[in-house]
Amino acid sequence: MTPNATPRDPFDADSPGGVADFLPDANVIAQMANAFFHGGPISERYADRSSGIPVAPPDPTNAPAPSIVTTVAPIVPARPPYGPPDLPPTTIPSVVPTPNIAIAPAPVGFGPSAIFPGLPDAPRPGASVGAFEPVSFGVPQFSADIVERVPPTHATTPSIGIIPGEIPGERMTSPNFPVEHSAPATINAPSLHPNSAASVDSKNPASAPFGSSGTSLADVPVTYAQASYPHRLYDTASTATPDMQAQAPYELTAVIPGSGPAGPTAADAYYFLERAGGPATGDDALWATPEISAEKGEQPTFQPRLSPYSAPAAQPFDPDAIKRDFPILQQQVHGRPLVWLDNAATTQKPRPVIDRLAHFYEYENSNIHRGAHTLAARATDAYEGAREKVRRFLNAPSVEDVIFVRGATEAINLVAQSWGRRNVREGDEIVITWLEHHANIVPWQQLCAEKGAKLRVAPVDDRGQIVLEQYERLLGPRTRIVAISQVSNALGTITPAREMTAMAHRHGARALVDGAQAVPHMAVDVQEIDCDFYVFSGHKVFAPTGIGVLYGKRDVLEHMPPWQGGGNMIADVTFERTIYQGPPERFEAGTGSIADAVGLGAAIDYIEEIGLALIERYEHELLTYATEQLSTIPGLTFIGTAAEKASVLSFVLDGYRVEDVGKALDRDGVAVRAGHHCAQPILRRFGLEATVRPSLAFYNTRADVDALVASLLRLQASRPDLAAG
Ligand code: ALA
Repeated sequence: MTPNATPRDPFDADSPGGVADFLPDANVIAQMANAFFHGGPISERYADRSSGIPVAPPDPTNAPAPSIVTTVAPIVPARPPYGPPDLPPTTIPSVVPTPNIAIAPAPVGFGPSAIFPGLPDAPRPGASVGAFEPVSFGVPQFSADIVERVPPTHATTPSIGIIPGEIPGERMTSPNFPVEHSAPATINAPSLHPNSAASVDSKNPASAPFGSSGTSLADVPVTYAQASYPHRLYDTASTATPDMQAQAPYELTAVIPGSGPAGPTAADAYYFLERAGGPATGDDALWATPEISAEKGEQPTFQPRLSPYSAPAAQPFDPDAIKRDFPILQQQVHGRPLVWLDNAATTQKPRPVIDRLAHFYEYENSNIHRGAHTLAARATDAYEGAREKVRRFLNAPSVEDVIFVRGATEAINLVAQSWGRRNVREGDEIVITWLEHHANIVPWQQLCAEKGAKLRVAPVDDRGQIVLEQYERLLGPRTRIVAISQVSNALGTITPAREMTAMAHRHGARALVDGAQAVPHMAVDVQEIDCDFYVFSGHKVFAPTGIGVLYGKRDVLEHMPPWQGGGNMIADVTFERTIYQGPPERFEAGTGSIADAVGLGAAIDYIEEIGLALIERYEHELLTYATEQLSTIPGLTFIGTAAEKASVLSFVLDGYRVEDVGKALDRDGVAVRAGHHCAQPILRRFGLEATVRPSLAFYNTRADVDALVASLLRLQASRPDLAAG
């Protein structure tokens, strides 16, 4: 049936000509939607692509069929200024004057009025406007495989519309982002790239195959949302925690309550620790040494080994010289030289990174991929240059596999929401490990709750090492993806990421590796690991906060829909449909953290100049030294004693709450994290809610470790019960 009548009210199901008229005949809707989607090949729609601007109107024969749900309002004059406001001004808090607050005068000598110190006009080294061809930026990479028509629902109708999506009982699928196969070990959804054998016929896009069935566009399942959308979270689903399996046996059992406050007084409390769910401070706090049932009283005797990925390094390494590159490390805290041992939480930034940021804002700042002016060219050049540096850093095959995001957390959420929503369905399984950071747990829980999938958790042994046999036992035909950290942020365990990825692939599952805690400490080669996704955060690798990376294999990214819509990720937008860019832009909606990406590039340059092989060797020596030294402290128990470790020394100290240890160390200028490290499940695996966690970076020295140990010894020496004994 055709919508001949103009709907009086398209939102009202009962209105003549409204949506109710269309609802009974889903086939008609499907046909119309398919016609709507057949806009014709992109390459034929635009006569001149060199400018990046469509110059030819769409071929009328290829013009989209009228949409039954999109209503483009005629242009009407703006509301006259004397009309009633939407809200009375007094009800808008931001415009209500705040009483009794004096406005401080602007500080003298700051702000834009400060005199610019006569710097040269020419860009400093690093800018490369001359090397950049302004005419080439912003050109959309048109190809058939980057096209997905936005479902018309977005335009006008919040509750009724056509969405190419899931039909109950069927895997959500789309011609452009086909669902992957679940057959073990053969994930070979055909590429839709025009150059590939399975490409879209540019004359007849309806012939495009998808999935393994060769189904054509004409068969694209289209459904209409009735009272709800299949992808929407419902109350019951969103509050439910998916099935948890694979409970590991607890060898470490009881928790001994702490012996009360020690070290700093209650007045030292940091307000933000409680807000952040940090250690409790009351009498019922349980932050103390666990009783180890099997080996009570034994001091840990372990020597962390170098990761199997480590390469030989011959050059000398001078950590004191390196430390001088980090301005923040030159200060004193509480009258003592700052010893920064909180590197797993975030790393400090070397002078070249700070200078690069300043340079960007002084000479290059502009939005990117748009604007035919010099600064746009400089900024685009710098941003895309950083992408190439990340590619090199990870040994990714192409810059198109490198997506800038805010951090590892955002990268995992992107995969869960884009890849996951398309490829995970009821009854499917997602496998993670007990070691995971909350960022590699919660997005998968949310996806499982939404889809009715199951989260399965691979156990670790009492040293914090993955039990590979049990991990493999969790894998099966329903496993869609495995998400594992390469280095545990809470314990420092280095996981066999390559082997675990291979095992996942043997079962036909994708593999995501969280490298947030790995990249500062070891050379990473995503092609060698062979993971489908790799994520990391810039701020943990000496770069600014607010920038991170998602690497994805090309064939996987190409078939993923966008997860956010907006500028930059589109090739062309009309009210009827939107054509998306290919990766990576498809996943970079809006203006990103441009300067921070450039800063990440500078950080990569910095660490590559030193050499990751050298860094890994040095840090390993330092970790061994720190392990030996901390072992001498009475009452200290390591949590996480894996044979292969990087950077992290997690422990609890007899008689003290971890928060008190953190505060005592802080008074001596030593910064560590004391808390749950955003990894509560693995700490609970050891019967704990929190640990003290010094974590190393290549600018740390033996003197830093000595300062940590001396402070802990002082703390233990002040224990009244020990003094009395
Ligand atoms: N994930 C960070 C940590 O390990 C914040 O402390």
